[in-house]
Amino acid sequence: MLELKFGNMMEEVIGEKGLSVRQIENVREKAFEAHKQIQERRWKELAFLDLVNQDTSEIKAIAKSVRENSDYFLLLGIGGSAMGPKTILEALKPYYNFVTNPKIFIYDNIDPRTLYAILSIIDPARTTVNVVTKSGNTAETIASFMVLWKHIEKKLGSETLKHFIITTNPDDGIIRAVIEKYNIRSLSIASDIVGRYSVLSPAGLLMAEVAGIDSNELLRGASDIAEKCKNPELWENPVYLFSIALYLMSSEEGRNINVMMPYADGLRHLSEWFCQLWAESLGKLGFGITPYPSVGTTDQHSQLQLWMEGPEDKVIIFINIDDYGKDIIVPEVFSEFEGMKNLSGHTMNDLIKGAAETTKLVLSCYAKPNMTLGIPTLDAYHIGQLFLFLELSTACLGFLFGVNPFNQPWVETGKKNIYGMLGRTGFQKEMQEIESIKHIIQDSVCWRL
Ligand code: PA5
Repeated sequence: MLELKFGNMMEEVIGEKGLSVRQIENVREKAFEAHKQIQERRWKELAFLDLVNQDTSEIKAIAKSVRENSDYFLLLGIGGSAMGPKTILEALKPYYNFVTNPKIFIYDNIDPRTLYAILSIIDPARTTVNVVTKSGNTAETIASFMVLWKHIEKKLGSETLKHFIITTNPDDGIIRAVIEKYNIRSLSIASDIVGRYSVLSPAGLLMAEVAGIDSNELLRGASDIAEKCKNPELWENPVYLFSIALYLMSSEEGRNINVMMPYADGLRHLSEWFCQLWAESLGKLGFGITPYPSVGTTDQHSQLQLWMEGPEDKVIIFINIDDYGKDIIVPEVFSEFEGMKNLSGHTMNDLIKGAAETTKLVLSCYAKPNMTLGIPTLDAYHIGQLFLFLELSTACLGFLFGVNPFNQPWVETGKKNIYGMLGRTGFQKEMQEIESIKHIIQDSVCWRL
């Protein structure tokens, strides 16, 4: 089971820069209000909590047919529609494409160089394309979909539609209209689920199953966290303690940057996924905490200096793993060199865990607040736990700050602006707005070399 260690946030450990029990007790009522909002489902977007009970049989059947008939699985999506699948793949199937088929590509941009590279690798006859867009209206994903459709159609003609699976909401969007007109295979993301909370919906689960990851294990982990976190007592509810500690560090101690630092290569993307969740959900009405992706030990050699001596504006969130599942012993070679002799005989497990521990000790010793989320091992069950824990924490923090953690008005504006820029019917307002500010805001000062 996931565990939370938050002692290094408290004044008992890090002195006056830490939180007091009184500070936490002072937000008890606010936390209870957040608890009621969540448990009484006062927001329809809390529907992500229902995902733990979904029936995965259709997803499994489609994934089986993809595995049998494809050498390439290309997921087109952006934001929440791509970050979650990327996290699952990297965490649970490292270097997947070097060892297994179908090769999986997750493409989340409109950079022509990358798309060109993907097109030159895949064989259309052996490719399944999974278009994932919760809203069904995102220009980047739709443009890539159109490119892939044409690319496959040129080779396969009327067979093309068999190579597509579209994952979107059941009610509206351009993509929904395409599904209906062309009768394309599809999976649904319930309308109330917000993009960045959709990882445990078919948006993430189809790719998981294609990669041979049991989606039920992801859901089982998430479900156990949802159950554990129904407890209204804040000292017994890890989501509330985690959220309250970060809320207080932001609102009372001026620490508005949260560094997410898993000690695992496999969780590098989890840091990125967390960043979207935190930034898009909490950055509103002048509030928000800037998320900062990191990975240990790698970023000890890049960021640690700043955390130790830079501005006092951060909280470091570690993710530790007890057992990495595999181990390697540093062999006894070059033992005539002192610095190498000392490494011999240690396991990589010992080294990475030791480095995490030492970093934590030093940070705490110099009064830099930090917390640890610990998981026993990196498997689908515990990744499911991390997903739900962080999603629930996001909702809770949003309620503590008094912002809506489920909307993203400026992301939507950006989406509309793309269509405005293209002069799409119905987007004249956006087009005019862009035109009207062009003459004021321009890259008028530049250096030409
Ligand atoms: O959280 C959100 O809603 C957004 O960041 C979306 O994930 C992102 O914009 C992609 O949207 P869609 O899945 O609708 O294409």
